[in-house]
Order: sequence, then C-alpha cells, then structure tokens
Amino acid sequence: MKAAHIAAEPVILGIESSCDDTSAAVLRGTHLLANLISSQRVHEQYGGVVPELASRAHLSNVVPVVSEALREAGVSPAAVDAVAFTRGPGLLGALLVGASFAKGFALALGIPLVEVNHLQGHILSPFLTTSESSRVPAFPYLSLLVSGGHTQIVLVRSAAQMEILGETIDDAAGEAFDKCAKAMGLPYPGGPHVDRLAQAGNPRAFELAHPLPQGTNFSFSGLKTSFLYLLRDGITANPRFIEEHQADLCASLQTTIIEILLRKLRRCIKQSGVRRVAIGGGVAANSGLRNAMVALSEELGLELFLPERRFTTDNAAMIAIAGLFKYQRGEWSRQAVGVSPRLRV
Ligand code: KG4
Ligand code: ZN
Repeated sequence: MKAAHIAAEPVILGIESSCDDTSAAVLRGTHLLANLISSQRVHEQYGGVVPELASRAHLSNVVPVVSEALREAGVSPAAVDAVAFTRGPGLLGALLVGASFAKGFALALGIPLVEVNHLQGHILSPFLTTSESSRVPAFPYLSLLVSGGHTQIVLVRSAAQMEILGETIDDAAGEAFDKCAKAMGLPYPGGPHVDRLAQAGNPRAFELAHPLPQGTNFSFSGLKTSFLYLLRDGITANPRFIEEHQADLCASLQTTIIEILLRKLRRCIKQSGVRRVAIGGGVAANSGLRNAMVALSEELGLELFLPERRFTTDNAAMIAIAGLFKYQRGEWSRQAVGVSPRLRV
C-alpha cells in the first residue's frame, strides 16, 4: 500500500459499471474534478438492458472512460490515493468488469481499493460538492431513493448507518415509468420521455389506480396494470388513442407515481421526526417529482437536498463520494473481494 496513513483530502477514482452506463469520476476530498459517463446505446433496439451486451460494452469502454476522467481532472494515475468501485447490486458480468479494472488499478499503483454499495452511492450523492454548490446535508436525513430497480425511504443516521423505513413490495418507481412508457411505444428507458411529454399534458385527464399498502411500503404493479387496461380499452374504441392522448397519459401516469411516493414520504417524515430530506436515483431527475419535493418542503418547512440531475442517474461521482467515507473510516477491501449482484442498503 502506498499510503500507510489516511490522506486528509484524498484523490479518489470512482468506477461505476452496475448496469448500462460505464462511468469514471475523480474527486479531491468531496470536490468533483471529473465525472464521465458513457451510456450504452446498444440496448435501445431491445427495449431493455441485455446483460451480455452490457458486459461487453463495459469492457471496451472502461479504459477510455477512466483515462478521459483522469485527463479532465488533471490528475495522473500516480496522484490517485484510492480507487472505489461498485460491488453491487447490479448485473453480475457488468459488475465484474468494473471490479476487475479497479482491482488491477489499485494493485498496480499500490493504493487502497474500496468497495461501494451502489444504493449507498445514490443515498450519499448529496455530499458531492462542485464549484457551483457546496451545500451538503447534516445527519440524520431521510433519503427517497427512486431508481430503475429500487424504491426505498432510508433513514441515514450516518454514512455508515442506514435503515430502510419503507420499500416497494413489487415494481420500482423507475420500472413503472419504463414499463408504461414501453406500452405506449416509447424508447427504453422511458422515464425521461414520460417526463418530457408530461409537461404538455393534463395530470388529471385519466384516473389510475393508487395502490397504497399498509404502513410505509410502496406498490406500483397495480398502477401499471390499470395503465395497461386504460391503453387497451382506449385503443379498442379508437386505434389512434395513444397518439392523440400521449401528453395526458404521460402527465396522469407521472402524477400518480409522484403522489404514491409523497404519500409514504410524508408518513416517514411524521413517524421519524426527521425534517431533512434528500432524493436520489434516476427517477430523482424527474421534473414533476423535483417540483413536488420543493412544494412539500415549503409546506412542511423541510430542509431539502435535490442533487443535480447528472448525480441522480447512475454515475461514478456518487461511487467516489461513498468510497471517500469508507476510505476515511479505513474500510478498505481485500483484492479477493467479490461482486454482489443482490446487495441491499
Ligand atoms: O439510478 P438509475 O440511473 O439506474 C438504476 O440504478 O436503476 O435509474 C434509472 C431509472 C430508469 O427507470 C429511468 O427511466 C429513470 O431512472 N429515469 C427517470 C428520469 N430519468 C431517469 N424517470 C422519470 N423521469 C426522469 N426524468
Ligand atoms: Zn442506480
């Protein structure tokens, strides 16, 4: 190991390869120097991520993406103090590419290797600072984590202590966006398309199911089913139903998903008494959700943390920041560490 001591403002290289984005980022302390993302277009034609194609694309992307991130950061490999990588959850082959690269990099340079839980990366992303913003939360805070694979409300007591207060019992919020978008013939992933089209629509045009399981858990599969029935019945009456009502369909879907999320978030705020709230995960890029969060925090007097959009969808900056906390605690990984496709928070 190069560093027997823990650097105060370490340079951390982060690597994210859990799904279909190959990303590398460089931080000095919490300050972002570079964050590069190479999104794989190869999956679009299949309407979803094809794991084997994802692994192959990561293999060809990882070296150029890391080189470019270091170049943009103005940092030589020798100046890197530690390398953080996504250990899971995610696709096995995709994770293996990032993990193998990170191990090789750490071994060659004799620097610490730090494994990161992808979900903790999303949750800790509000700690990233840039030249535009250095506002970060204090502990404890609640994180509404909404991505393609997860929907959870997490009580973040510290960077090392997190407790799930509520989570989905079936589909994730991003999955609900993507599956309903696919049924309307929109490209994958559908969430950003629904967001864009919803801007011109009436959110009250269509009434959709609001499944609300007991307590603080979420459910989205009933909403998806009611949306599919709405499309089926609409098309039976009018073959051009989707084209003619696209904006209203998107706006109604988006508003229902947001209402479900906020209903449970309100409950967790009330039960926990924690009045500091952050959002993370790809769906946190949604403009309707962001507006609704601002309105909620004004209503309840919350301290709100909305990470920049580029830090909400999958990115290596969030892996680097979560890695920084672990590096500082001395929680370094062994070379023998494996990947973990089903890791939980
Ligand atoms: O966190 P993320 O990039 O990957 C996972 O870890 O899953 O989240 C991807 C999800 C996809 O379901 C995508 O449709 C959704 O985030 N998403 C959005 C928006 N941008 C990305 N959903 C709604 N509105 C958006 N603007
Ligand atoms: Zn993610």
